[in-house]
Amino acid sequence: MTATPTVVWWRERRQALLDTLGERDCAYVYDAATVASQARSLLAMRSVARVFYAIKANPHPVLLRAVAAVGPGFECVSRAEIERVLQAVPGIARERLLFTPNFAPRSEYRWALESGLCVTVDNLEVLRSWTGLFRGREILLRLDTGHGHGHHEKVRTAGLHSKFGVPPEEFDDLPQAAADAGATVIGLHAHAGSGHFGIVGWIDAARILARAAARFPAARALNLGGGLGVPDRPGQAPFDLQAFDTALADFRALHTGYELWLEPGRYMVATAGVLLARVTQTKGKGTRRYVGVATGMNSLIRPALYGAWHEIVNLTRLDEPADCPYTVVGPICESGDELGSDRLLPRCEEGDVLLIANAGAYGHAMASNYNLRAPAVELMIPA
Ligand code: LLP
Repeated sequence: MTATPTVVWWRERRQALLDTLGERDCAYVYDAATVASQARSLLAMRSVARVFYAIKANPHPVLLRAVAAVGPGFECVSRAEIERVLQAVPGIARERLLFTPNFAPRSEYRWALESGLCVTVDNLEVLRSWTGLFRGREILLRLDTGHGHGHHEKVRTAGLHSKFGVPPEEFDDLPQAAADAGATVIGLHAHAGSGHFGIVGWIDAARILARAAARFPAARALNLGGGLGVPDRPGQAPFDLQAFDTALADFRALHTGYELWLEPGRYMVATAGVLLARVTQTKGKGTRRYVGVATGMNSLIRPALYGAWHEIVNLTRLDEPADCPYTVVGPICESGDELGSDRLLPRCEEGDVLLIANAGAYGHAMASNYNLRAPAVELMIPA
């Protein structure tokens, strides 16, 4: 089976996007249909028993409802994220929620356990020292499977230098610690990073989890985390979901006692969102030609933080030849406030609308009020 290329919905919705933006200077615009379609493709994986959307990527209530309507559950890392889901999807069953905090205070774990949530613990010391907290509870344990993967070192969440998960040298101590804590371990978890295309990384992690799970008689679930890559550049091969499914099915055939869970964030929402920003000024300096737009790293920090590459087009002049090299910058007082450098665009004029693609994941979710500039508002494109 071959991978299907990522569908770019926004090229066909140019006028609807401009209408949605209206007179505003900038906005995130989301397409709920794309989110629903990504959710459906994940649920169609025959090897995966349960899918949980990692809402940290984009907790917009309309998108949460779009995901919930298709069927996945939700993975949350803070009390506020759990509360967001409960508010957006009233009456959602507790079984559809996972709570996977990291270095959160004890009070948050207590609240989650008392609320009947499935909690993932990723620290042996906590299991040992928070006496009584886990007694009679069913939990998952997050293991560090040793190798981080991902598009940037800051998003690799396994390996010696990452703060996540129980390290391999403590695996042998976990069964006794869980038993002493009075907890029943119903599954093991690993999330090695974000924006990864190599399927073998998940299979290696699954093997490590399965080996460790043999020491927990009640363990039935192996949660392989998220991290499924989304191509940045047009023409780049998409994540091969079908090959992933096949590899996971092969794994399951050898490990029949376990069901596989996934918790993707970016894969669910990245392509569903674009950031629109109006041109404020242009400027030539040295060999560079700058085009400034009304919002920058305060709305989308990924280029500044990770050097992430987002496709940028001039939506106002989508049909004109893109033959002028520009560095696209925002209005924030930092040299790092670049959304893209050396991009070919048509000659840009004040008031044009630039579109920054693949901004649905970790865009608004990571935005700030830096320079007291409010980040772009979030809007839905009409169906
Ligand atoms: N599960 C856990 C435990 C996680 O920590 C994460 C992401 C996910 C699932 C979902 O990963 P995803 O499928 O979205 O890659 N801000 C970065 C990504 C950081 C991801 C943090 N954890 C970015 O913009 O690329």
